[in-house]
Amino acid sequence: MSEKLALFGGRRTADAPFPGWPRFSDKSLAGAQEPLRAGRVGYWTGTCGRSLEAAWAAWCGARRAVSCANGTAALHLALLALGIGPGDEVIVPSHTFVATPFSVLHAGGVPVFADVTADQTLDPRAIGALCTERTRAVIAVHLFGVVCDMDAVLREARARGLAVVEDCAQCAGGEYGGRKAGVLGDAGCFSFHYSKHVSAAGEGGMVVTDDDAVAEVCRSLRDHGEELEPSSETAMPVAGAAHAAAPGAAALLQEIEERSRGRFVRAGFNYRMTEVQAAVALGELERLESWNLARRIRHAKTYDHAFSHLTGIQAVPLNTEKRRNAYWRYPLQLDLSRLACDAGGFRDALFAEGIPCGLIPWLESYREPALKRYAGDGSASPPCPLAERLDASTVCLLLHPTWERNHIDMTVSAVKKVLAHYRR
Ligand SMILES: Cc1ncc(COP(=O)(O)O)c(C=O)c1O
Repeated sequence: MSEKLALFGGRRTADAPFPGWPRFSDKSLAGAQEPLRAGRVGYWTGTCGRSLEAAWAAWCGARRAVSCANGTAALHLALLALGIGPGDEVIVPSHTFVATPFSVLHAGGVPVFADVTADQTLDPRAIGALCTERTRAVIAVHLFGVVCDMDAVLREARARGLAVVEDCAQCAGGEYGGRKAGVLGDAGCFSFHYSKHVSAAGEGGMVVTDDDAVAEVCRSLRDHGEELEPSSETAMPVAGAAHAAAPGAAALLQEIEERSRGRFVRAGFNYRMTEVQAAVALGELERLESWNLARRIRHAKTYDHAFSHLTGIQAVPLNTEKRRNAYWRYPLQLDLSRLACDAGGFRDALFAEGIPCGLIPWLESYREPALKRYAGDGSASPPCPLAERLDASTVCLLLHPTWERNHIDMTVSAVKKVLAHYRR
């Protein structure tokens, strides 16, 4: 006899609310005040943005890092810097947040939707199948923190002369063969949105690359298309002085005038991050490995141990020695053939038990109104059948670093209770 579910009047597994995400360290909170106190709130008048870029590049092992307003802007910049333009096709998984294919449209390109494999990431075989003479690039999305099969992606892409962008919005700290996700392709793009591993006070983004020319075009496009003197990135006169007094108005005006007139060589954007955002991201980067990732990985191990081999569970998230998961979420695949409920029913039962969780929070991209027209010939069968199956059978558990062992244990108990009720 299984225990009565809270959904049907039984006792709830968890009565108190679980800790939320994000939470900021004391260092981040103090750091956020410095640019405000000094009046140096813009990228070019403070030092936090450039410190963050240097620290992020060093952490991930990239030659260059360019900060920007958000992860969508990072993808947009990277695609433009890699030469994607009107009519160019870019292969993207449909199984991702819409920002991935939207960035292709923003660059003037055409998203071509690829299916995923059972690990929820891009099927490398789709690259050959979908490549045409107009294809220029592939975006490999490390979804939920699961690192794509990058050897295969790079092999398929390089054989066809395609650029490879890594969408690391959900994968800060994942690794492939000992190297950080983001440094394997031509450019890696991170998001510092408030749900992500590292939040830069709500929004933010970063492009990393080993290619100086790509980095410089990203940097220029981020700054309205301005070209800098080679030396000026590190030697801005006002920004060079740390957070002392606010720059004098006259000096600042003179600096902007000297720097900018006649230097806008391409139609760029204002995609800059503020100094407050950069200060917070710097504080959070400092504890990314030691606290944030370490706790996510520990929580995931507990889940893996509890859920692998249970009847009703199809798969736990992929994590191997070669492809080390960064665990943004814990997508648990249900074996619906062994359960008398669907993923929505399972999620409802967990909710009723007091467990924060969700379904995959986005539709297959090509089902969104703005993207339907790129879904192929409109025939009845969906272009990405495996992605659709995963969408229908996945429940996303959480493993925030703010959670303690008791929160993970309650989640495990609730999942087992719901499984026992619906198992057939
Ligand atoms: C896979 C993926 N790509 C790109 C983005 C875009 O990042 P942002 O929200 O910072 O623009 C997100 C953000 O949610 C995402 O999850």
